[in-house]
Amino acid sequence: MSSAEDARPWPARAAPARAGTAPGQPAGSGQPAAPSAPALATEGLVAGYGDVEVIRGVDLQVHAGQLVAVVGPNGAGKSTLLKAILGLARVMGGRVLADGREISGWRLDRLARLGIGYVPQTDDVFDSLRVSENLAMGGYLLGKAQRAERAEQVLAIFPPLRDKLHRYVGTMSGGERKMTAIARALMLAPRVLILDEPTAGLSAELTDAVLTEQVRALADHGHAVLLVEQKARAALRLADTAAVLVQGRVAMSAPAGEVLASPEMAEIFLGGRVPEKGAAQA
Ligand SMILES: Nc1ncnc2c1ncn2[C@@H]1O[C@H](COP(=O)(O)OP(=O)(O)OP(=O)(O)O)[C@@H](O)[C@H]1O
Ligand SMILES: [Mg+2]
Repeated sequence: MSSAEDARPWPARAAPARAGTAPGQPAGSGQPAAPSAPALATEGLVAGYGDVEVIRGVDLQVHAGQLVAVVGPNGAGKSTLLKAILGLARVMGGRVLADGREISGWRLDRLARLGIGYVPQTDDVFDSLRVSENLAMGGYLLGKAQRAERAEQVLAIFPPLRDKLHRYVGTMSGGERKMTAIARALMLAPRVLILDEPTAGLSAELTDAVLTEQVRALADHGHAVLLVEQKARAALRLADTAAVLVQGRVAMSAPAGEVLASPEMAEIFLGGRVPEKGAAQA
C-alpha cells in the first residue's frame, strides 16, 4: 500500500530507535517535559462506567517510535482502557500522561490538538458521508488549504481511496472502510496514534498489510503507537512491547517476542487465568 517512501502520512523527522529510548517531544507549547517521559503513559489507571470498575490499576508506557500492543480475551477491558485514556470512559483512579504531563479526562478535541489520534473499534467512520468528507472531518482542526494538502499526503499512502473519494463509506467493503478510518485519523498527523482493533473484519492478507504497512510503519517513523488487537499473534509479531490484559489487569507485560513465546500467554487466552506471580513485568 505504501507506494513510495516520500508518500508517507507523517511529517519528515528522524526515526528514533525502536527500543523506546528516543526523547519525547514537549507537549504543545506549554510545559516542557522530562526528556525521557513516554509520549503516552498510564499510571495505576482505574476506570470504567458509572460505578463499575473495568480497568483495575493499569501501568502502560508508549514511547515515540514504539509500537505497544494490548492483547487479551474478549471483555478484558481493552477498549475501555483506550476509552479511559481518551476521556471516553470514567477515570476513577490513577493518571493518564502525555510527555509526562497529566491529561486524565481530557476531551478528544483537546487530545487531538496535543497530537493524539484515535481509531475506535466501531463507529470509526461516518457511513453517511463520502470518503472525501470523512477525510475533511478528520482534518477539522486544519485550515482549508492545509486540509487539502494533508488529504493529498494521506491519499498517497492509501492509493485505493483516491478513486473512491466520492463514494459513501456505507457502501464500501470492510477493508476500504478501515482504510478510510485510519486515513481519517492520520489527517491531523498525530504523534500518538491509538488504534482499537484496526484489522477487525479484514482478511488475513489485509490484516498483515494493515499491521505491517500502516501500524508498524507509523512507529518506525517516530510515532508512538498503542494498538489493541484481537489477532494477538499478528500484533505480537510486530510490536515492541506488549501487555496482556485479563479482567482489567495487566497479567503480563514484556517485550512482544517474550509474550508471543510464553506458555502463560496461551493459557491466558485459553483459560482467562491471571498468573499470580512469575509473569514478567515491564
Ligand atoms: N459503555 C459501557 N457501559 C457499561 N459497561 C461496559 C461499556 N462498554 C463495555 N462495558 C463492559 O466493560 C467490560 C470490558 O469491555 P471492553 O469493551 O473494554 O472489552 P474488550 O477487551 O475491548 O473486548 P473485545 O475484545 O470484545 O472488544 C465488559 O464487561 C463490557 O460489558
Ligand atoms: Mg474491544
